[in-house]
Amino acid sequence: MTVELSLCQNKDVMEFGEIQAAPTQISNIREGKLRYRGILLEDLVSQSSFEEVVLLLWNGKLPLAAELKEFSNQIQGECGLDSDWLRKILNLRNFESAIDFLIAALSLVSTGKNSNHKIFFQLPPLLAAWENNFQKKNLGLLSKNSSIAAYFLNSIRESNASDLEIVALDKTMLIHADHELNISTFGLRLAASTGSDFVSSVIAALGILKGPLHGGASEWVMKTFDQVKDKKHVSAFLDQAFKNKEKIMGFGHLLYKNGDPRAKALKNIAKNLSAHLNRQVDFEMAEAFESEMLKRKNLHPNIDFYSGCVYRLLGFRSELGPGVFAMSRMAGWVAHYEEQNSDRRIVLARGLDEKKREDVYIPLSQRTS
Ligand SMILES: CC(C)(COP(=O)(O)OP(=O)(O)OC[C@H]1O[C@@H](n2cnc3c(N)ncnc32)[C@H](O)[C@@H]1OP(=O)(O)O)[C@@H](O)C(=O)NCCC(=O)NCCS
Repeated sequence: MTVELSLCQNKDVMEFGEIQAAPTQISNIREGKLRYRGILLEDLVSQSSFEEVVLLLWNGKLPLAAELKEFSNQIQGECGLDSDWLRKILNLRNFESAIDFLIAALSLVSTGKNSNHKIFFQLPPLLAAWENNFQKKNLGLLSKNSSIAAYFLNSIRESNASDLEIVALDKTMLIHADHELNISTFGLRLAASTGSDFVSSVIAALGILKGPLHGGASEWVMKTFDQVKDKKHVSAFLDQAFKNKEKIMGFGHLLYKNGDPRAKALKNIAKNLSAHLNRQVDFEMAEAFESEMLKRKNLHPNIDFYSGCVYRLLGFRSELGPGVFAMSRMAGWVAHYEEQNSDRRIVLARGLDEKKREDVYIPLSQRTS
């Protein structure tokens, strides 16, 4: 069966450049609110953890204590990599972009031997290995960590991360875990709808996520913070950017015109983290961007603005930002791949043939212009 997509089915929908492509139960956005399996994001941020949310997305319901414990044990066992395989990947070449590296690395995964869940567990050690290779650190990959956030942070640091830093990354990953049929997830589902394997579908999604108008925005935000440094330079930076007709990454959203609930949750995390690390200057600079953008353009920050702020406070290089986004969104991608496969329909996009052009073929010798 084929689902045909057309931009002109509904005029209101067309205005926002949206296409309703597939039914999904995994997460939904209604009236500016995001829900994972029906549960409000805000409630999950305040009470849940990334691991619990992964199981919620995969199984459709919150896990029991024993199920969560079993999953945590799995993290310790499965967040590991074959070191020969890893050496082969890192020797391929020096990838400047985390996403390019993940695409190359995943291309070498044998899909026959690895379950979708196994591949989910391999992203954190892969990304940590890439980062440590770049930093020329030989920290080795850890095995004993209770959460993916702790595993990742402690794998790329010389000394253990504080509990507050671990919680900050855990909640940030939770906030990135899924977002309905966002563009990269839609790309994954398009690939899945053709019957393509999981790794190939994830690679399609990674290529989309990398774009600066999608997950690549966090990298730009982090670079901007590095450049601007202090709230007193924000206004001049924006003057110059608007003079050059540039877009400010991390602002605006196709669906959230009155503010992205994920940015609001991340803002709280950034505020606590900056106080904990005594880096209020960074948070104040972010707030200055937020108020100037609202005043000048009536635009609110989106997920990538405050995640860029959190990532930077956690000491990540800007190039790592989109990789951490991808590592978190893998949770949703596993669920979406399975949901798409449960209803085997190929998704077909149609072009708008507004001009209905019909021309005759002119042989080469007769063409004059
Ligand atoms: C996310 C985004 C693509 C949504 O697009 P949209 O709501 O359809 O908005 P449009 O791109 O159609 O822009 C509408 C107007 O707002 C302006 N605008 C939108 N986002 C802007 C931004 N981040 N900075 C400056 N101006 C912006 C546009 O220039 C346009 O102005 P115009 O009407 O004078 O030409 C857009 O806001 C954007 O490019 N943001 C920056 C990239 C980003 O942060 N991406 C991550 C998204 S989670």
